[in-house]
Amino acid sequence: MRFTTLVILAVVGATALSLTMFAPVESQPKIPPDFSYEPQKDSPGAVTFSHQKHRDAGVDKCTACHTKVFKMKKGQTGTPTMEKMKAGEQCGACHDGKKKVGDKVPFAVDDKSKCETCHKKKA
Ligand code: HEC
Ligand code: HEC
Ligand code: HEC
Repeated sequence: MRFTTLVILAVVGATALSLTMFAPVESQPKIPPDFSYEPQKDSPGAVTFSHQKHRDAGVDKCTACHTKVFKMKKGQTGTPTMEKMKAGEQCGACHDGKKKVGDKVPFAVDDKSKCETCHKKKA
């Protein structure tokens, strides 16, 4: 009798534990905080990339960027350059002023009115 009770408790306990361990990870992946790229030579200013803002803009699938466009570790893809982005790599995979992402067309990296949307001058 006591042994059966123990077994049942163990099974219930293990099930509850595995649910709390795996359920949140699957339904809601944790998104990393904003980070800034170190400005390279001639850069008009530091660029901050925000996972949250992209998510708010409707880019809710991690696979939109990972791992075809960006590796899932900071610095692993290499710092973007305008040349690569204009060739459709890195941020330019979406920011070309033509590609539709969800219901939006992200502004182009070579749009002169948009440089400062990404590059922030030091205050
Ligand atoms: C979608 C975001 C985005 C837009 C828009 C953008 N850039 Fe950049 N740019 C970056 C990122 C990210 C880097 C890499 C970090 C750095 O060097 O500041 C970069 C780097 C640079 C660099 C240094 C590296 C290189 O390739 O020479 C220059 C110069 C530059 N950008 C100029 C511009 C100009 C001029 C505009 C507007 C016509 C512009 N950028 C618009 C994201 C952007
Ligand atoms: C719009 C593009 C984009 C989307 C969508 C995106 N990421 Fe990222 N993520 C990036 C970029 C850019 C980096 C930096 C990569 C690099 O420097 O090589 C990054 C890096 C990461 C890192 C590494 C952070 C670190 O400090 O090393 C993790 C973890 C990550 N992303 C998780 C996610 C998850 C989870 C999702 C979905 C909820 C997601 N990303 C969606 C662009 C994106
Ligand atoms: C998977 C496609 C995709 C990629 C890759 C991507 N973006 Fe975006 N980005 C978007 C969309 C969609 C928006 C929303 C555009 C709009 O509202 O018109 C956006 C908006 C932005 C904004 C404006 C956010 C705000 O609300 O202030 C910035 C800044 C930005 N992106 C920077 C970057 C940088 C830097 C990179 C590369 C590290 C990058 N993005 C890569 C899709 C992308």
